[in-house]
Amino acid sequence: MAGKAWSGRFAQGTDRRVERFTESISLDHRLFEQDIRGSIAHARMLSRVGLLTDDECQQIVRGLSQIQAEIESGAFEFREDREDVHMNIEAVLIERLGDVGRKLHTGRSRNDQVATDLKLWTRDALDGVADRLVALQRALVGAAQRHPSVILPGYTHLQRAQPILAAHYFLAYVEKFQRDRSRVEDCRVRLNTLPLGAAALAGTSLPIDRASVARELLFDDVAANSLDVSSDRDFAIEAVFVLTLIAEHLSTLAEEWVIWSTQEFGFLHLPDSLCTGSSIMPQKKNPDVLELIRGKTARVVGALTTLLVLVKGLPLAYNRDLQEDKAPLFEAFDTVMACLELAELLVSQATLRVERIAQGLENGFLDATTLMEHLIRLGLPQRRAHEVIGKLVAVCESRNCRLAELSLEDLQAADPRLGAEIPGLLGSANAVAAFRSFGSTAPSEVARQLNLWMQRLELGT
Ligand code: ARG
Repeated sequence: MAGKAWSGRFAQGTDRRVERFTESISLDHRLFEQDIRGSIAHARMLSRVGLLTDDECQQIVRGLSQIQAEIESGAFEFREDREDVHMNIEAVLIERLGDVGRKLHTGRSRNDQVATDLKLWTRDALDGVADRLVALQRALVGAAQRHPSVILPGYTHLQRAQPILAAHYFLAYVEKFQRDRSRVEDCRVRLNTLPLGAAALAGTSLPIDRASVARELLFDDVAANSLDVSSDRDFAIEAVFVLTLIAEHLSTLAEEWVIWSTQEFGFLHLPDSLCTGSSIMPQKKNPDVLELIRGKTARVVGALTTLLVLVKGLPLAYNRDLQEDKAPLFEAFDTVMACLELAELLVSQATLRVERIAQGLENGFLDATTLMEHLIRLGLPQRRAHEVIGKLVAVCESRNCRLAELSLEDLQAADPRLGAEIPGLLGSANAVAAFRSFGSTAPSEVARQLNLWMQRLELGT
């Protein structure tokens, strides 16, 4: 029974089944580095305000550093009966330092300690995600550069719509991941207030100095309300929400590329090293990595849901339910980090099958909207121009031909304003060249955007 931090008040030891049920060490051992970083900052503050002597502080710092080295080398034994990473580390410190070790928990509680550790871990993990996002953006810009003048059919409703430059396509994802980066930064700003020193829920009567701990742990500020601190998991939920959007963006890319790598589309070549085969059908080469990027998105969405349901209706302040935050938080980060790594590999190594794409590029009336806009320039109201071109498309469908194959008579029967200049406007290449609006797929626009991204992402020409 002895050995529990709360044994003073208890007449019985803890049932083994309760220990097993309530432990979190199997997951939160991952917080050891953050726990020790936080404890060292706390000990230094305690010595600054006179709650520890210099010598006691040094013993604690040395003891914690040694424990960290042991954990890193695998020599440290985590015990389930010590519940969590915080108690495991503190218990060994006390075994080694006796009463000096018993002073570390002065002016803090595990409630503010666990919130601090989790914030430090999430902050580090967000920085890791930000780096991976930049790497993926660079790979996307690289793909845009590798396919400078390739034209793709652009889709809405997965139906052929208008032609776009391949570079425009890749840059669309660069934009999405840029918004993800800005959400990561935002989330980091809101997260970055120090919980430690809020103690259990109400603060402490001891003369602690939270501001100096905040500075040492690189927090921008001190969390202002102790009652708020020990119940706050907003930062974890927000981080997982940010991860969910990243996963959704990756899932969209994956879905498109699964479609593109079918026989039917044949737009994309994936290297063998990034594909897998079938155990029964010898001819198969499957885009499993893409499918799993799409599939693993479900885990991240699940993690977000878990966290939201976990905190729903919890009264202030700390409740043990909150211990369940770690599994979804870790799973969401692990999953998204792995997906980002594999997505970067795929984007750097996949190539567009340029000839195959070009073969089908004049199918599907990708130039119909360009022709309609030409009529608008000639003075026809948009709704009328739309109808005129719609009728011409119907004529083409009945004859199984393209707009460019209609005769001058066909065109003038539809509208007398349509003249001999029309063939020079039709076809996907002409249609792409005709774009001019800001943000469009116009070659000059795309070149401008590409240059901008190369500067922003510090990529040499
Ligand atoms: N293992 C707990 C957790 O991860 C530590 C906090 C315990 N606090 C408490 N009042 N029992 O949430």
